[in-house]
Amino acid sequence: MTMKKAFRTGLGICMGVGLTMSAAVAEEPAFKWSWQVLTLIKSGDKAKGAEVADEHRCHKCHGDAGISDEADTPSIAGQVPAYQFKQLMDYKNGSRSERQMEKIAKKLTPENMADLVAFYSSQPAAQSAAMTDAPAMVTRGDMSRLLLPCEVCHGKKGEGLGYEVPALSGQMPEYLAATLAEFKEGERENDHYGRMRYIARQLSDDEIKAVVAYYAAKVPQE
Ligand code: HEC
Ligand code: HEC
Repeated sequence: MTMKKAFRTGLGICMGVGLTMSAAVAEEPAFKWSWQVLTLIKSGDKAKGAEVADEHRCHKCHGDAGISDEADTPSIAGQVPAYQFKQLMDYKNGSRSERQMEKIAKKLTPENMADLVAFYSSQPAAQSAAMTDAPAMVTRGDMSRLLLPCEVCHGKKGEGLGYEVPALSGQMPEYLAATLAEFKEGERENDHYGRMRYIARQLSDDEIKAVVAYYAAKVPQE
């Protein structure tokens, strides 16, 4: 089997597993991509988004322009808008659980969310650390475990890709580590086809540390 073929087979298997798993756990209708959803996201108005953000006090936790200064709170500036929209919908329908975000998302309409993500995705993203010496997992993956390199999906510079794959570069390090641990334990299970759960389950603690150190924001020392 060629390396590419092996990766595809692995991905195929994990997609199959993901589908059965999500069918078994979903209670509320889970988020689905559609032409209508992508059109709604595109129609987002960033000026309205800034107003909705003010009204719901997003800045209290995510910083004025979407750059967080709390270790466990993600930065949301410059993120892939459709990814971000899906996360808000996932908090609203309960497929991603976190008390504070669920409470807020329940009060937002899909139109509010489209405006919010238009606003935050237009803000400059946080600076990442040097991003030199990429760990093997980022550039090569590991064929023996059918693991694709992170950069295949998350982009060469960790800038995100397409509509559903988030940017990782410049993200808060503790948040990155925590969300990977949650994928690994199955506590975060909103990734379509179980792709991130499949990957995170197989990463050792040292491999997680290495990818986090590579992508994370340059956090000012106090
Ligand atoms: C009380 C603090 C708080 C407030 C207010 C808040 N957030 Fe959050 N937000 C968080 C935390 C903490 C997380 C990480 C939760 C988790 O691990 O699932 C998060 C996660 C998110 C995510 C997912 C990020 C990712 O990379 O997956 C988005 C998007 C988001 N918030 C947007 C918003 C928006 C928009 C608002 C205002 C309407 C808002 N948040 C208000 C604390 C807050
Ligand atoms: C097959 C494509 C694919 C590969 C390979 C991949 N990812 Fe992902 N990743 C995704 C998708 C899709 C999501 C969004 C899941 C969702 O909708 O919540 C994601 C989400 C994430 C998140 C959550 C980001 C946030 O803001 O909450 C982290 C962290 C992450 N990936 C890290 C990694 C790392 C590290 C690697 C390499 C070891 C990797 N990913 C490899 C597709 C991939």
